[in-house]
Amino acid sequence: MQSSDEGDDPMPRDDEELKTKKDKYKVLALLGKGGYGAVYSVLRLSDSEKFAIKCENANTCRKALYMDCNVLKGAAQIKSRHFCTVVDQAAVKDRFNFIVMKLIGKNLWDLRMDTPECRFSLGTALKTAAQCLVSIQQLHKFGYLHRDIKPGNFAAGRKESNEHHTIFMLDFGLCREFVKRGEGKLRTQRANAPFRGTTRYAPLNSMLELDTGRKDDIESWLYMVVEWTSGGLPWRKLKASDRDKVLQFKKELRNREDLQEDMFYSCPKKEFFRILKVSYHFSTSFHSDYFQYTDSLDFYATPDYGFVYYCIKHAADANKIKDTDPLDWDPNTPYFGPIEVPGDGAVIELEVENRMSAEGSINKTRKEKGKKNEEKENEKYRTRKRENKKNDEDEKMKNKKDLEAALKKS
Ligand SMILES: Nc1ncnc2c1ncn2[C@@H]1O[C@H](COP(=O)(O)OP(=O)(O)O)[C@@H](O)[C@H]1O
Ligand SMILES: [Mg+2]
Repeated sequence: MQSSDEGDDPMPRDDEELKTKKDKYKVLALLGKGGYGAVYSVLRLSDSEKFAIKCENANTCRKALYMDCNVLKGAAQIKSRHFCTVVDQAAVKDRFNFIVMKLIGKNLWDLRMDTPECRFSLGTALKTAAQCLVSIQQLHKFGYLHRDIKPGNFAAGRKESNEHHTIFMLDFGLCREFVKRGEGKLRTQRANAPFRGTTRYAPLNSMLELDTGRKDDIESWLYMVVEWTSGGLPWRKLKASDRDKVLQFKKELRNREDLQEDMFYSCPKKEFFRILKVSYHFSTSFHSDYFQYTDSLDFYATPDYGFVYYCIKHAADANKIKDTDPLDWDPNTPYFGPIEVPGDGAVIELEVENRMSAEGSINKTRKEKGKKNEEKENEKYRTRKRENKKNDEDEKMKNKKDLEAALKKS
């Protein structure tokens, strides 16, 4: 057995030089450490530019780094501003594998903790929420679920590169592709799926060990946004080991308005209730024998990102928050970050070259695979998409009408 002496730690040491085929990097500082690896800032020796490296222990069976790498390469194709670019990758034999990526700033957990009351101002919470929503929609657009949406997995850019008003999405280790590449269709829902993610922010479905879909990422996003705005979730005092109690909370929250009121006590209630309804909408379709999950539309449905965004925007307008109001971590500068409306959620096909396999080696694309059946499958997919789109559009119309009616009433 290995001892836990520092000398046995396979992770990079301060000032250590790491070599790749392209360049050399000097390790500067530890930025974050998880159970399977760590993130460091490094200096690229060829031009003294700073980057981040994410390392994964070579002996871990988790192999999440390949997912980080593939997702970020996918993101590069859609040219989103919310993802770091990967510039290099390599392995230090028998110690760790690593990717080199853009260096960004503090994560949103730390930024909230830096505020005097451990909560963001409403303006900061809503602006940040909108950017995170857009990044989730973009990740879904190229076929991945995140499955670990939480404040530690989003960070602001660096002041030095004038990107500190832009939010970046991080940590794709638990991502799952929900489309079959090259086949143009959605993956079939699994009957069961082991728990993934973080108890506090995990969607109910994930806690019930059910396969999760796109709207489950939105549910986690909502918990995160509520925490930013109110300073805490009703189950904040429960530990990861109290998973059953948190699960109970999230289950009861579906049907108990008093719990919803409590959760939203300092949030823009009207709009957050509307979002809650969207994010819980399909999950309420449990059978009376409760755990039997029946409505497959739940899993396959496209969330109404536009409506969620509209609620955020309405909350900002209703609270007289201006587009230029500063962010809490840069109080003296008018906001100059992106103001974007999320896309419609249509999923695109990607062909990512040089995908990394779980073993760390590079695979060719699957382009050649299954060419014959492709057209047949595509047609099936298109039909399904047409049907889903129709359902989604009906749902969106209904949501908009409901919101307008609710807002008129109030
Ligand atoms: N590109 C980056 N630039 C700066 N800091 C980063 C970067 N990537 C990750 N971090 C920091 O490291 C922490 C852990 O990274 P993450 O990718 O979430 O790994 P883990 O799987 O250990 O959670 C993040 O919360 C963030 O603070
Ligand atoms: Mg993380």
